[in-house]
Amino acid sequence: MFNVDIIFCIFAIVFAIFKGLIDFKPIKEKIRLTKEQQRKSIKHGYLYELMIGIKNQKELMIYRAFDFLKQKWKLEKVEYDKTEIHMQKINSKFNRVQESMSIVFNALIIIIFANLVKENNFTIGNYVLITMAVNVTTSNIYHLINQLAQMLENYTHYETVHGTAYYSEKYIETKVEGTEKFKLQNQIKISNLRFTYPNSKTEALDGIDLLINKGDTVVILGENGSGKSTLIKVLLGLYQVRSDSVLIDGIPINQFNKNSIYKKVSVVFQDYIQYHTTIKDNVGIGDIENYKDSNHMYKVLRHVDIKLNNNNLETKVGYIDEESINLSGGQWQRLALSRFYFKKNPEIAIFDEATAALDPMTEVRHFNDILTQCEDITTIIVSHRVGIAKRADKIVVMENGRILEQGTHTELIEIKGTYYNMWMTQKEWYQEEDKVTADVKQSVLN
Ligand SMILES: Nc1ncnc2c1ncn2[C@@H]1O[C@H](COP(=O)(O)OP(=O)(O)OP(=O)(O)O)[C@@H](O)[C@H]1O
Ligand SMILES: [Mg+2]
Repeated sequence: MFNVDIIFCIFAIVFAIFKGLIDFKPIKEKIRLTKEQQRKSIKHGYLYELMIGIKNQKELMIYRAFDFLKQKWKLEKVEYDKTEIHMQKINSKFNRVQESMSIVFNALIIIIFANLVKENNFTIGNYVLITMAVNVTTSNIYHLINQLAQMLENYTHYETVHGTAYYSEKYIETKVEGTEKFKLQNQIKISNLRFTYPNSKTEALDGIDLLINKGDTVVILGENGSGKSTLIKVLLGLYQVRSDSVLIDGIPINQFNKNSIYKKVSVVFQDYIQYHTTIKDNVGIGDIENYKDSNHMYKVLRHVDIKLNNNNLETKVGYIDEESINLSGGQWQRLALSRFYFKKNPEIAIFDEATAALDPMTEVRHFNDILTQCEDITTIIVSHRVGIAKRADKIVVMENGRILEQGTHTELIEIKGTYYNMWMTQKEWYQEEDKVTADVKQSVLN
């Protein structure tokens, strides 16, 4: 009886290990398919959102693009469904193999028992006892191996999601979070800064050298695609770069704790978010810690000239609620700017084309306002408008990921290069603008 127990025990362990190992076999293929599924679901999901998005309706109607997009969506959906079916097939194929193994194993046990009963007078009680023991052993060992296979699969998914995003806009944050608390006491030193987007062959930043002193106002000018926004994102620690290429008072930027950077910085991005919730959210997100400071919020809203329904901060804006009021492009941009004004005591202010949607008079007012408010803090302004540059401590002209010229307005006018040409071309606008500024000042005095 003892020998028979050992034989059944070994038999059960070997079977469970084999059955479990089968779970490891399709892992690679399943991971590949899951990645493919995620990529494809983003594509057809995006097209679906594009078609049903309320703000897209007018353009789709005018261009009569709805059927065209629907067709594209269908094709993407079919592709996605194919991957889904492939995944189901793999699962059922391996399940079938495991079920067949179980059938053969159970049949073998019955046959062995039948012989044992015939030769050794085994009772039904022995049979029940041993088959139960065999089943429990097999099932426990199998589940152990199955869980290991699941863990391996899940871990690989986790690594994929954390390592790279499925969208092309990838924020490759440094893997190890820095511990230093962010503080700017003297200067930001950028030397030989290079950055290439993972899905691109050309360098978006190609050897940038730049010194920004604490309290300086730096204006970055340059054609579309010259690398201005990329440089801003690198300075915010959103992209990983060589550790010695951006130093804050001699300390590599990736040694700082990200949250401590974000606490001190106020940014208005070129592609700022329109929060389709309430005015309160749109302003308050600029400084979550002071979200409840309604008095400050009212002041900021008056400053950016946003009117509220019945003085109510909960006024809904956007498209997604029946009571919401829609805003114009310029009003949304004013709300984005309000997030800067709402942030208390930032040490660095960054504006990436933050006023492009404003009417000229409001733009001049805000630029002057920003420059006055930011007099004591380090300010970086990306703009296509040369007029703003005149008041900067440093003007940087970028082209194809490189810095073409840098210096003060007077220095750059003297060398008669790209800035000079930009200035000469846009000069008339700024003479106009100076007049607008004078008018604004006059109207304030009156
Ligand atoms: N997520 C991305 N993936 C790949 N390439 C990118 C990505 N974002 C920007 N680029 C490329 O990097 C280069 C610099 O882009 P960037 O947005 O920094 O230019 P910019 O000077 O801010 O232009 P603009 O004045 O139009 O805002 C461009 O050639 C652009 O195509
Ligand atoms: Mg840009």
